[in-house]
Amino acid sequence: MEGSSLVSDFYERHPYPPPVDDLESYGRRWDEPRRRADSFLFWPGEPYRDDRSILVAGCGTMQAAHYAVRWPRARVVGIDVSETSLAFSRELKREHGLDNLELRQLAVERASELGETFEHVVCTGVLHHLADPDAGLRALREVLSHEGALHVMVYAPYGRAGIYMLQEYCRRLGIGWSDHDVRELAETLKALPAGHPLVPLLRNSPDFASEDGLADALLHPRDRAYSVPQLLDSLEHADLAFGRWIRQAPYLPSCGALASTPHAARLAGLPPEHQYAAVELFRGTLVRHAFAAYHKEETRRAIVDFEGDAWLHYVPIRLPDTIAVRDRLPAGAAAVLINRNHSFNDLYLPIDRRQEKWLDAIDGGRSIAQICANPHDRELARVFFQQLWRWDQIVLKV
Ligand SMILES: C[S@@+](CC[C@H](N)C(=O)[O-])C[C@H]1O[C@@H](n2cnc3c(N)ncnc32)[C@H](O)[C@@H]1O
Repeated sequence: MEGSSLVSDFYERHPYPPPVDDLESYGRRWDEPRRRADSFLFWPGEPYRDDRSILVAGCGTMQAAHYAVRWPRARVVGIDVSETSLAFSRELKREHGLDNLELRQLAVERASELGETFEHVVCTGVLHHLADPDAGLRALREVLSHEGALHVMVYAPYGRAGIYMLQEYCRRLGIGWSDHDVRELAETLKALPAGHPLVPLLRNSPDFASEDGLADALLHPRDRAYSVPQLLDSLEHADLAFGRWIRQAPYLPSCGALASTPHAARLAGLPPEHQYAAVELFRGTLVRHAFAAYHKEETRRAIVDFEGDAWLHYVPIRLPDTIAVRDRLPAGAAAVLINRNHSFNDLYLPIDRRQEKWLDAIDGGRSIAQICANPHDRELARVFFQQLWRWDQIVLKV
């Protein structure tokens, strides 16, 4: 079977993610503070808006419905090649009365046939399955409005080494996509040696919780992964500019264990893209990259910058899913800040009493200068708020 029909045939059989219809709890999670933080993550230089037009490209069984629930005032268009996946999405639209959602069977590569541009283009878990991912990325750029933000997730290679080994194993044995073959594979994996690189993924990744998830990971007919340099090259070829990692601390040598190694100063001297590449190699277990990209010529996608004085006027906004832990603290710490979305356990930020006060004063309205009124504290404040930003504790309205 050839090219894209192979992939669409696979998703007809194994729609992904495994469909669910509980949109109520999802909607409750996406309250106003979460929407606000998301808006400033992608558009730090623009006022908060909740009505941006959204394209969910390769929406699968429910992602477009999720976006329609998250952003009830936005118009959301979902496209996918798999009719089975779209049918699940249509059912969610009907059941939950999602009048702001439109669904179309259309390939990402042909997105321009929609005849419109979108302010937010979301494409997660799709590009790495395309015959020509660069063509897919260019097609997404074409439908990204001038001031728009593109949110992409693609696989990363090193953390997926065990998956690629098992994919090769399955190819050698001629394991197919039938329910019988998938069930036998699930059974066989229970005998995998404890030290196999796939074992931590089987244990920790929700992707392996279902047989469709298992098929998606191990029997996919086409699946490539991008190292950081490959990813940045692809963006360059598509004439797009890298904006930020959705969660950036795992890529920064100043966050986590690397910061206190003898290599810290060398790493700090590298340009950002070389830092990201080095940290990916050092961490060794990243399984995906999620990031925001923009049109190159888009200047309003304000760059966050803690040099100069502009940072004093930034307004910090707390990110959801962050917590302050107050037991078993390191000496001198009043709390330790954690983002629950980080999967690396070295990404915690101890703070002292004064920093805790500043943190508590963040209300989404006050600027850093208003939070730290004493000019003698300015340098401490600059370092602290930059740390909060780097550690994915806050986003900034710049
Ligand atoms: C792994 S699923 C991801 C679904 C969704 N984006 C998410 O993150 O939950 C990949 C989806 O991409 C779709 N897909 C694959 N190739 C495509 C293409 N060329 N154009 C549009 N959709 C495609 C598949 O049908 C499938 O629904």
